[in-house]
Amino acid sequence: MSDGPGRLPGKVVVVTGAARGQGAAEAEALAREGAHVVATDVTEAPGCRRLDVTSAQDWARLAAELRETYGRVDGLVNNAGVTWRARIDDVTAEDMARVHAVNVTGPLLGIQHLVPLMPPGASIVNVGSAAALTAHYPVAYTASKWALRGLSRTAAMELGPHGIRVNTIHPGFIETEMTASAAPAFRAANIRETPLGRVGTVDEITPLVVFLLSAEASFITGAEIPVDGGLTAHGGMKSVSDAMKGPAAP
Ligand code: NAI
Repeated sequence: MSDGPGRLPGKVVVVTGAARGQGAAEAEALAREGAHVVATDVTEAPGCRRLDVTSAQDWARLAAELRETYGRVDGLVNNAGVTWRARIDDVTAEDMARVHAVNVTGPLLGIQHLVPLMPPGASIVNVGSAAALTAHYPVAYTASKWALRGLSRTAAMELGPHGIRVNTIHPGFIETEMTASAAPAFRAANIRETPLGRVGTVDEITPLVVFLLSAEASFITGAEIPVDGGLTAHGGMKSVSDAMKGPAAP
């Protein structure tokens, strides 16, 4: 495997949920930086290998193929995720289990199967959410993303001695099919709560993923980085601040 140009020359990087949205953009950006990208998804898509992140069998098959083809894996982006917008009063135990399986057990299985192929210097990026830092109302999704933070922190601690880094990114409202499936009021309310006053794009997520996978981030592990236009930094105080503006408020 020859090193080439870019910030990830010759690195073998697996991306889950890469058929569309952020995962597809990440796969493209990583390839532009010289990585050998293994794009995977549970749905069929051109250039994507089929992998259901909840299936230990799928992960075992992928690991065996990567061992054969490259002999190693340098990066894993646990991007695949599902939402479910049931609230506390109508969410079911089945909903909780289904969402947890994709958003938490999926990344765990990826780590378990690919870490044995990872040399020192390898890097794992888990895709959390602003929901992982707040009391976002779709409770199955929120609980799963908080759980992913716990998994990430434990993995960073346990894999550090092997020279493997594990970091989490927390996107705010990013324009993808996932957010397009929400009611328009969801988008408007997010913009109101976002200090930068707009939603984000997939191309505003990919530079951080590239950075965290690259040697530039060689001493960064166990970190959690929001990419959210300031949404989670004010702890809900933006609406208070906005209410106190104008002549009526001192
Ligand atoms: P998306 O819904 O457009 O794409 C998600 C991809 O994951 C799809 O291609 C889907 O087929 C795949 N996927 C679902 N279940 C899978 C499984 N069992 N195995 C393999 N692949 C599976 O969503 P988007 O927006 O690109 O989301 C990417 C990640 O970012 C997710 O983890 C999501 O929770 C997270 N996120 C998204 C935000 C947003 O505003 N779009 C905000 C915060 C976090």
